[in-house]
Amino acid sequence: MYGLVNRAIEQLVVSTKGEPAWQLVCARAGVAPGGFVAMCPYDDSLTYALVHAVSEELGMPPEQVLEAFGEYWILYTADEGYAELMQSAGNDMRSFLGNLDDMHGRVESIFPQMKLPRFRVEILEGDVLRVLYGSDREGLAPMVTGLLRGVALRFRQRVVVRHIVTRGPDASEDVFLVEPLTA
Ligand code: HEM
Repeated sequence: MYGLVNRAIEQLVVSTKGEPAWQLVCARAGVAPGGFVAMCPYDDSLTYALVHAVSEELGMPPEQVLEAFGEYWILYTADEGYAELMQSAGNDMRSFLGNLDDMHGRVESIFPQMKLPRFRVEILEGDVLRVLYGSDREGLAPMVTGLLRGVALRFRQRVVVRHIVTRGPDASEDVFLVEPLTA
């Protein structure tokens, strides 16, 4: 994945646990802690190695690391110069999620070698959103849970995100429900 993603993992660890923790993560993952170049594509194995090293170093399951990362990503990308792109995707959760593929399409002109995720949104009764996520990569569904929580925070909405279908031989996409909290 592009260095932008690996840098976001670095920033998450440094901002929550400090620079020494990041040095330990890099040592575990066998990565030089010199920093990543945002515009440079790196092998996916490096990103997975970083997630596993963070998981071991901080004593939390890799799924939890991916969730935390997804939430952080929404704030991080907005902070790192993509705020305009994020704003152009919509002013509420429903339209923002519906525009994600278009937005990533525009991101592709900046990161031409990226492998795009695919999102579809359906509206169910009670303003529940059903989000379908397709990807060429394995194991990133917990990150999408975190991303969806991050998007809800961005629009100051209180929601519960449930991952109800896991991609596999019987399902070509992961499915999530985003349910508004009323009380
Ligand atoms: C302006 C904001 C954003 C930028 C600049 C951006 C950029 C990127 C980049 C560079 C990648 C790596 C792809 C690769 O190297 O192959 C990526 C992956 C991904 N992005 Fe975004 N993104 C943005 C917003 C979002 C949002 C809002 C969501 C979802 C709510 C999202 C979901 C994902 C997912 C799930 C992946 C993993 C790709 C996969 O499944 O293979 N992104 N994005």
